[in-house]
Amino acid sequence: MHHMMLLSVHTTADGSEEGVGLMKGLILSGGKGTRLYPLTYTRAKQLIPVANKPILFRVIEAIRDAGITEIGIVIGDTGPEIQEAVGDGSRWGATITYIPQEAPLGLAHAVKISRDFLGDDRFVMFLGDNVIQGGIHRLISDFDRHHEWNSQIVLTRVDHPEQYGVAKLTSDGRIERLIEKPKEPPSDLALVGIYMFDHHIFEAAEAIKPSWRGELEITDAIQWLVDHGYTVFPYVHKGWWIDTGAPDDMLEANSKVLEEVEPEVRGFVDEHSEIDSRVTIQEGAEIINSTIRGPAIIGEHTRIVNSYIGPFTSIYHHVLIENCEIDRSIVLEHSVMRDIGIRVQDSLIGRHALVQKSEYRPRALKLKLGDHSKIGLT
Ligand code: DAU
Repeated sequence: MHHMMLLSVHTTADGSEEGVGLMKGLILSGGKGTRLYPLTYTRAKQLIPVANKPILFRVIEAIRDAGITEIGIVIGDTGPEIQEAVGDGSRWGATITYIPQEAPLGLAHAVKISRDFLGDDRFVMFLGDNVIQGGIHRLISDFDRHHEWNSQIVLTRVDHPEQYGVAKLTSDGRIERLIEKPKEPPSDLALVGIYMFDHHIFEAAEAIKPSWRGELEITDAIQWLVDHGYTVFPYVHKGWWIDTGAPDDMLEANSKVLEEVEPEVRGFVDEHSEIDSRVTIQEGAEIINSTIRGPAIIGEHTRIVNSYIGPFTSIYHHVLIENCEIDRSIVLEHSVMRDIGIRVQDSLIGRHALVQKSEYRPRALKLKLGDHSKIGLT
C-alpha cells in the first residue's frame, strides 16, 4: 500500500505516537487561456495530449502513483474545460477539489487561495504543464521521511536559466539565493515546477510583495522561508524535465514521454504486420499489413493499413492511416492520411485533418491550412 508509507508517525517525548496525516496534492492549472496554434481546439495548455494523454492527466497520475489521492486543482479562465475533462477524479481513485482563482496573480497567490483545502497538511505543488522522468514517488517519500524539512524544491540544469526561477547553492549544497527569471543568472540550476511545503508557506505567501511582473512569486516565498531560518532542501533532478508550455516543444515532449510509456497491446494486429516491443496499441485499434517501430503509440479505434509508422510517433484516437510512412510525428483525433507518396516526418497534424493524394490533374499541392500552419517542403 503506497499511502501507508506517507502516514508518518512521530514519537513524542512521552513515548506516545502522533500521526501527521496524509499529504495532499495541489496542481496549478490556472493562468490565462491562450490560443495554442496550431492546436486551436483547446485553450488549456494542460489538456494537450502528449503520447496520447493530456499532460494534466499525467500530472494527476504521477501524484496518485506517489500515494497521494486528495488533490486540489487551481483553475482560471479555462476552468470549465478542465473540469469537463478531469471530472471528480474517481477514474484515478482520487478525490479532486477545484479551487477557482479569479486571475493569474502568481503561483504564491494560488497557494494562498488553497489554504482551506490544504489546512495544515504537508503537500506537493505541481505545475499542470510539467512532466519529469521517473515520476515523484522518491521525492514524496523523502519529504515524508524528513519532517525537519519545511520544504523541498526540485532543481535541474538548463540551457536558458533566464527563463526560469534560478537557484544559487552554497559550496556545501544549501540554498543561498533564489531569483525569478534573472537577467544575469547566477547558475544554470532552474526550479522545476514541483515543490513540497508544510504550512509555513502560507506565512511566506502573506509576507511577500508582487514582483515586477505583478505576480506573487513562489520563488520569493521560498526565499522568505530560507531567510527566516526554515529548512528548504534542494533536490537536483538528473533525468529529463519538460515544461510543455509551447506547442513547438510538443514533438520533443512526445518523444521523451513515449520512452516512459509501459507498452501494451490491446487492439488487433494482423498476421502480416510487424510491431516492435516498445509499441502500445490501444483498445479497438487495428493494424493491418503494417510495420510499427517503437517507441510509438496507436490510439483507440485507429486503423493503420499498409503503412509504416516509425519511432517517436503518437497517433491519437479514431485516425485512419492508409498507404503512408510516418515518422517522429503526432497525429490527433479523427484525422485521415491516405496514399501520401512521400514520408511524413517531424509533423504535427491537428484534429479532423485530411491529407491524401488527389486523383485530379494538374499534379500540384492543394492545401487548406489553418492559421499559423507550417509546411516544410524539400
Ligand atoms: O516551469 C517552471 C517555472 O514555472 C519555474 O522555473 C518558475 O520559477 C515559476 O515561476 C514558473 O514560471 P512560469 O512563468 O513558467 O509559470 P507560468 O506562468 O507558466 O505558470 C505555471 C503554471 O501555473 C501554469 O500551468 C499556469 C499555472 N498558474 C500560473 C499563475 C501565474 C496558475 O494556476 N495561477 C497563476 O496565478
